[in-house]
Amino acid sequence: MSIMKLIVANWKANPLKIEDAAKLAKETDQEGVVIAPPFIFLESVKENISKAKLGAQDDFWGNLGAYTGEVSWRQLLELGVEYVILGHSERRKYLKETDELINNKVIASLDAGLKVILCVGEASEVRNKGINHAKLFVEQQLDKDLIGFDAKWADKLVIAYEPIWAIGTGDADTGENAAEMAKSIKQLINSKFGVKNVPVLYGGSVKAKNAKEFLSRPEIDGALVGGASLEAGEFNKISDTAN
Ligand code: PGA
Repeated sequence: MSIMKLIVANWKANPLKIEDAAKLAKETDQEGVVIAPPFIFLESVKENISKAKLGAQDDFWGNLGAYTGEVSWRQLLELGVEYVILGHSERRKYLKETDELINNKVIASLDAGLKVILCVGEASEVRNKGINHAKLFVEQQLDKDLIGFDAKWADKLVIAYEPIWAIGTGDADTGENAAEMAKSIKQLINSKFGVKNVPVLYGGSVKAKNAKEFLSRPEIDGALVGGASLEAGEFNKISDTAN
């Protein structure tokens, strides 16, 4: 029996209206799916799903308190959020999130009981030097982002390999490279923490037409889907391909 693959819908700063969020959630509500809307739509998505799990796109490492503009893991848990995406390259780029800051969020979220989808991936300048450079880059990110990780959280950690040059560009990685990277990430997590077979998702221009290329590979445990998660028909084809 094959284990279910995880398909994560990362809506980013979409859609505009709560009615559209509710509709999209209802239409993409499937087993094996995590829906990660903007914070303002979490409650509405929750009300419109029964099979999918609820995810957040970020959180803050502190408990309740004086943290203007932030949303605490505590509030997410209270709302029924199960997964949190951390370290996405767009946050690293536009919000200047550092590995140190991401590490704080990762540890606080795991400690609180959330499942963490930690995003890593190299820029094109790194990949252009070859896949081994990309592997080394990802390894360094994981080293820093997982300082203080404990094997007791083994069942709560998911890694999303998302090469930056593939995100939102239509230029996805090849299944072969993504699988090689996933294998290397699994080996690293095993050798560092003794955690075998950490789930690794691929993200970066996953569409209905290329989903099989990634999801048919045993090393790849699912997909993190941005653009294509905003169209129910397209997204459902991806989740149907998975399971
Ligand atoms: P994309 O985004 O599917 O639009 O490339 C993926 C992501 O950023 O998680």
